[in-house]
Amino acid sequence: MSEFPAIIRGGGDLAAFLKTNKAAVDAALDDAGALLFRGFDVPDAQAFDAAIEGYGEPGFTYEDSLSNAVRTNVTPRVFTANEAPPSTEIFLHHEMAQTPIYPSKLFFYCEIAEMKGGATPLCRSDWVMDRLAKEAPDFVARLEAEGVRYTNTMPGADDAGSGQGRSWRSTLSVETKEEAEKRLSDLGYSWEWREDGSLRVTTAALPAVRKVSKGRKTFFNQLIAAFRGWSDSRNSADKSITFGGGEPIRAEHMAPAIEAADKLTVNCDWQPGDVALVDNYTVMHGRQPFEGKRRVLASLVA
Ligand code: FE2
Repeated sequence: MSEFPAIIRGGGDLAAFLKTNKAAVDAALDDAGALLFRGFDVPDAQAFDAAIEGYGEPGFTYEDSLSNAVRTNVTPRVFTANEAPPSTEIFLHHEMAQTPIYPSKLFFYCEIAEMKGGATPLCRSDWVMDRLAKEAPDFVARLEAEGVRYTNTMPGADDAGSGQGRSWRSTLSVETKEEAEKRLSDLGYSWEWREDGSLRVTTAALPAVRKVSKGRKTFFNQLIAAFRGWSDSRNSADKSITFGGGEPIRAEHMAPAIEAADKLTVNCDWQPGDVALVDNYTVMHGRQPFEGKRRVLASLVA
């Protein structure tokens, strides 16, 4: 079993390192699923932006995404990882796997780590699938046959107090209800308007298992985060996920997946200047609650 995440220690300019060693970095990423670059000279968001530029792959922009998180851009391709309050835990997920449009990789950068807690848990999703295939083969078979649907309610205006607080206008990149309905119908979603101006949507059946390199399969979905965490004034987590056919996914279905993921999770404890590169198809990530000052920025690769 390879080191996870693999730590690449260095010094000097990370942008130059990534540009020169792109092929070796990608091979290491395919092997480990997540890389932590430590000891390089990455003092601020601009240096992080330059490092991503050095890596040289096209970005995936927050505006174009259907992400539910409220975020703020720092540079055109770098944004705050999630504006949810420090006390809110963000449970393991593959970025945007609850939508049909998701990034292939994620970069994280730690600018400030003056906090208690606040690690980024990382979990190899292929290892989760290996366990689930043995412990809950019926559940896996249904996920593969039916896929899954996610339901969530988006507010009329951004609510930074929630991990699911992005408004429907921002999420769908629209201004009016008519434009929202057009976009949802193009996406194959169903929807319902609420009296308070919020919008409840249910996705089409989306794949929940993904084939990745070397014949592996990953638990590529948002089930754990949705089941454990999609609770706010508008959403209740236990109503957020169903199998593709519409039957609710319940606690007894989720228990073996949650247990396997918890056992396999490794915490990335941040030091200022750290940069992590995560394969979004192979590795789940989250955020532990924290107290104090923490600034972790993110950027997505298309
Ligand atoms: Fe995320």
